[in-house]
This record gives sequence, structure tokens and C-alpha cells, in this order.
Amino acid sequence: MTQHYANIVGLGMYAPEKVLTNADLAKIVDTSDEWIVSRSGIRERHIASDKEQCSDMAAAASRDALAMANVDPSDLDLIIVATSSPDNHVPPMSSLVQDKLGAGNVGAYTLVAGCPGWVYAMVQGSAMIQAGLAKNVLVVGAELISRYLDFTDRATCVLFGDAAGAVVLQATDKPCGLLSYELGSDGSGAEHLKMKGCGTELPPREDTIGNREDWYLQMNGREVFKFATRKMVDSLHSVLEKADLTFDDIDYVVPHQANMRIIEYAAGKAKLAPEKMIANVSNYGNTSAASIPLAMCEAYHDGRIKPGQKLVFSSFGAGLTWAAAIFELATP
Ligand code: COA
Repeated sequence: MTQHYANIVGLGMYAPEKVLTNADLAKIVDTSDEWIVSRSGIRERHIASDKEQCSDMAAAASRDALAMANVDPSDLDLIIVATSSPDNHVPPMSSLVQDKLGAGNVGAYTLVAGCPGWVYAMVQGSAMIQAGLAKNVLVVGAELISRYLDFTDRATCVLFGDAAGAVVLQATDKPCGLLSYELGSDGSGAEHLKMKGCGTELPPREDTIGNREDWYLQMNGREVFKFATRKMVDSLHSVLEKADLTFDDIDYVVPHQANMRIIEYAAGKAKLAPEKMIANVSNYGNTSAASIPLAMCEAYHDGRIKPGQKLVFSSFGAGLTWAAAIFELATP
């Protein structure tokens, strides 16, 4: 029986034109460039215009990924869109992306697993290809998180930004693709990162709508920080062990871009050379499910990421959830 592997053949990204710097934020809330840079490493982030929706950003990144892969949208077999900030709760944003791309009427679904959603989606898309059930799978991470931010809350509004990243996975018989993974969730920490409003717990009705903070992202930064540092280090070791590899075998770690301190802590604990960690959080902030494909796409275009390499993705986020996966890029 033919063995199928899921190779990464296309990468695309989109960031809105408008850039919001730390100095801009200091005019809105009681903060400073010095505080934001020293606590998070973030210097600026991109913010979508009023006319843009999350599906527009997802479609823009996807078009670039499809062009690089030389795959026509009509040749996609499956579309998975990871997001926690969709255009609407109904319909699923994935169907809007499918329509905007002019893809065929293929299966499309939205995956919600916090910031690690895109890593979850990469594992699922790869599994479909490895099982021989799909040839071309589009895996998108897109977030228009600024619309969920309270720009009077300095503890959250300085940390996040809007962007999208997309990957085309394609079946090949060359050994490559997903080498190992770990997906995890611990709902006992759900309160630490939450937007309460708009679900069954707090539907948007006259009697519930008054409490401002319920309609924005709330975060217990210290608890998330502790969880993130622990899980990032543990899951990196776990996927290496599962693949029978060591850090010496890995070309780059592409971590979730939430905070430079978390990335540096994980690199220190793993005794990884800092240059093996791909980081662009300073220019985009935390773009949630978009952050890893965005960072990978930039690193591909500046020549760091190349065919034949082994990459580790590692993420954590609301749920609380975490995910790590090792991918090998096929040689041409
Ligand atoms: N500007 C200035 N001061 C701020 C501020 C801001 N933007 N945000 C918070 N502060 C203040 C706090 O009010 C607090 O003041 P106090 O001591 O008078 O109460 C002080 O800074 C220290 O706050 P603290 O929460 O201890 O800071 P910290 O060192 O833990 O850093 C985070 C805060 C949010 C940067 C850090 O906890 C973090 O990165 N957590 C993880 C967040 C994350 O990754 N989330 C996404 C998950 S996907």
C-alpha cells in the first residue's frame, strides 16, 4: 500500500496596513513603550480597518499560499480555518473563506482551540492526507482580535494584533511531513483567558449586555504566563521524544508569538541557541492562531526556512490548550 505524507508546499500571510505602535497606545491607555517592550518584547502590531473582516484576511493569506503551491482553489479537497475571532458565530467562517477563494464546494470547517488552533488544524489536515482521504488541504490561522479587545484595559490591549497565515498541505510519497505531535487541553484553567459574552452562558440580551468587561477578552496574565512557560517546555520535549529526535536534529522552533519573555524562557530551558527560535512578536504582537504560520512565512521569505528542514511548532492559549508538532519539509 502506498504511504502518503503531507508536505508543506505553500505559505501565505496577511497583515493589515494600519500599524499601532506602543507610542500610539500610550496615548490611549496608561502605559509606555518601555513597559510593553520589557514585559513582552512587542513594539508594534497591525490593526484591521473597519471595512476588513477576519475572513478577508484569511482569504488574502490563503491566495498567497495557493499561488506559491501552484494549486488552484478548485483543486482543494478540504479547508480548515483556525480562529477565535470569526466574522460571525454562524455561519462558520470557513465557508466564507471557501466562497471568497472560489474553491469548490469542498468540506470546510472552523476549528476553535485558542492560539494552538492552527497547530491542531495542521495535525488534522496531515492526518487526512496520510489516510489517503485528501490530496490538497488548506490550513489557515486568522484572527481579527482587535475587535475583541477593550482599549481601556492596558493589561490586554497592548498584547494582541490582527493577522492571518496560511499553509497548503499536499500529498506526496516522499517521506516528510508530520513526524510527531501532542495536543492538549485543561479546562480547569478556562477562567484565565476568556471572553464571556455571546455564548449560551451570557447571550447578548438587554439584561446581560450592561457589564462591559464581559464583552471583551479578559486575561489573568500571571497565570497564563506560568502555564505557557511550563507547557511550551514540556510539549517540546514530548514531541522530540515521540519522534526519537533531539534539538540537534531540529533546524528551527517556530513558537507561538505571545511574548518574547516566554520564547526566551523556553529557549533557555531547552538550552536552544536563540537563533534557532523564530520570533517576530515585536512587529505583530500576539496574533493568536495566526502567529505560527505568520512567523513561518516570514522566515521562509527571508531565507531561514528551507526545504529539507525539520521544524517544531509549539503553542498554548485559551482553554487552556496547548499543541506541539514536528514537521519535516520535503527536499525538492
Ligand atoms: N502598562 C503599564 N503597566 C501595566 C500594563 C501596561 N500595559 N499592564 C499591566 N500593568 C501593571 C499592572 O497593573 C501591575 O501594576 P501593580 O503592580 O501596580 O498592580 C504591574 O504592571 C505588573 O503587572 P504584572 O501582571 O505583574 O506584570 P507581568 O510582569 O506579569 O507582565 C504580562 C504582564 C501580561 C505581560 C505577562 O503576565 C504575560 O505575558 N502573561 C502571559 C500573557 C499571554 O501570553 N497571553 C496570551 C496567551 S495566548
